[in-house]
Amino acid sequence: MTASPSATVSPGLTTTKSPFIERAQSEGRLYIEQPYDLYSDANHEAWRALYARMHDRWQKYANHRFLQGIDNLCLDPTRVPRLEDVNKFMAPRTGFRAKAVSGYVPAYMFFDCLRQREFPTTVTIRDGQVLDYLPEPDIFHDIAGHVPMHTDEAFADTLVLFGECARAAAERAADITDPHERVRRVTSVIKAMARFFWFTIEFGLMKSEDGKEIKAYGSGLLSSYGELEHCIVSPDVQRWPFQLEWVVNQYFEIDKYQPLLFVVDSFDHLFSEVGRLAEWVKAGTLDNVSPGEPAISEADLASFLGAAIR
Ligand SMILES: [Fe+2]
Repeated sequence: MTASPSATVSPGLTTTKSPFIERAQSEGRLYIEQPYDLYSDANHEAWRALYARMHDRWQKYANHRFLQGIDNLCLDPTRVPRLEDVNKFMAPRTGFRAKAVSGYVPAYMFFDCLRQREFPTTVTIRDGQVLDYLPEPDIFHDIAGHVPMHTDEAFADTLVLFGECARAAAERAADITDPHERVRRVTSVIKAMARFFWFTIEFGLMKSEDGKEIKAYGSGLLSSYGELEHCIVSPDVQRWPFQLEWVVNQYFEIDKYQPLLFVVDSFDHLFSEVGRLAEWVKAGTLDNVSPGEPAISEADLASFLGAAIR
């Protein structure tokens, strides 16, 4: 005897508990379709709860272009978004599209997607019982944290330039004949790029338009109820003017609130700093950055080396 359909509880698309994602990963399928019908009621409820409590904090602490981005995307506060709907609002503005993935995208592939105005997007959502902390990205982080900024032209251009940095790093690596030295230098450059990405795109702060306040534009901050307020008001956070020499040498830890953040003046300032990063990649300035976190995985390294010898 089989259970009736109404008695079946959908496994849904919950972070680390989704059979659909496990199957895609075991079959080696990284780029997938968002299986929208698999979202359970609990998944939609998690989205609703996350979105509802962020709303007021965004109004207080988010950069104004993020707030415009939220308006531009017309997200439904009560349902997990469909990526095709997100793209309908985003693509006409900046050409960016959310692209569903089953899991971690190795660093070079991730940056190269940005260069092509594609944003690898997680489709799973965190368990509604643990809204606060999650080591993995989820669709709330990716769509409510990252994607609103991707509707802004200056920010979108910054991400594309970041992808160009990765390409420059791979091209440069192709010219290094000693394999051991190639691995050493590429590892250093990936580390520098990861640090830059962390302290800007994920955890960046920016002066407000009148210069009197500091606002968040980094997605890790904008998708965290607790840290979004903490990063702006806590006396325990150091907030220093952005300095490229420092950022590329600064280690970070991912599993606690950040004690050190960097403040850029404007989106034009951010864009010019990514431009400097690209110049430093080409000049070899990043071949010997400070050791320490983040550790560079075999997959990340292989993705850059694979691009270099293509
Ligand atoms: Fe992120």
